[in-house]
Amino acid sequence: MVPKIAIAAAMIFSVFASIAELRAQVRPTQDATRNSSVAAGHAYAAKMCAQCHDISSRIDDQFARARPPSFYAVANAKTTSAIGLNAFLVTPHAPMPNFIIEPGDRKNIIDYILSLRNESAPST
Ligand code: HEC
Repeated sequence: MVPKIAIAAAMIFSVFASIAELRAQVRPTQDATRNSSVAAGHAYAAKMCAQCHDISSRIDDQFARARPPSFYAVANAKTTSAIGLNAFLVTPHAPMPNFIIEPGDRKNIIDYILSLRNESAPST
């Protein structure tokens, strides 16, 4: 006969395993829809920025110095801040003619880019 303790341990293990599974499924969408400005920023980026930038894959191409960089690389660069992004996004964007982003869209896009920050990386 299997000892009760082993059955209990197996049950506890399977509960943890299914929690881990659920979290793995939920995570990617949770990040993109953390709040409505992030979701709106993602939609805007998909329309206005994705033809040049990789807007969502979590590949840090900053070491490859990809031009233009992925938004993930922008988000995780040490020098990136909301203020810096705002300043960058109100100045002309070299390859783009008439690069004008309305203030509301700018806030959304900044919220979206910063939502790609790798939370597990040590903050500096
Ligand atoms: C026509 C192509 C093109 C489009 C469209 C475009 N970008 Fe860019 N973007 C670039 C290029 C090229 C660079 C790199 C410029 C450089 O190296 O000086 C860049 C750089 C950037 C950077 C600075 C990255 C860094 O840290 O060096 C940000 C932030 C950025 N873009 C945001 C956006 C946003 C937001 C949109 C959409 C609203 C957008 N871009 C649309 C081509 C584009």
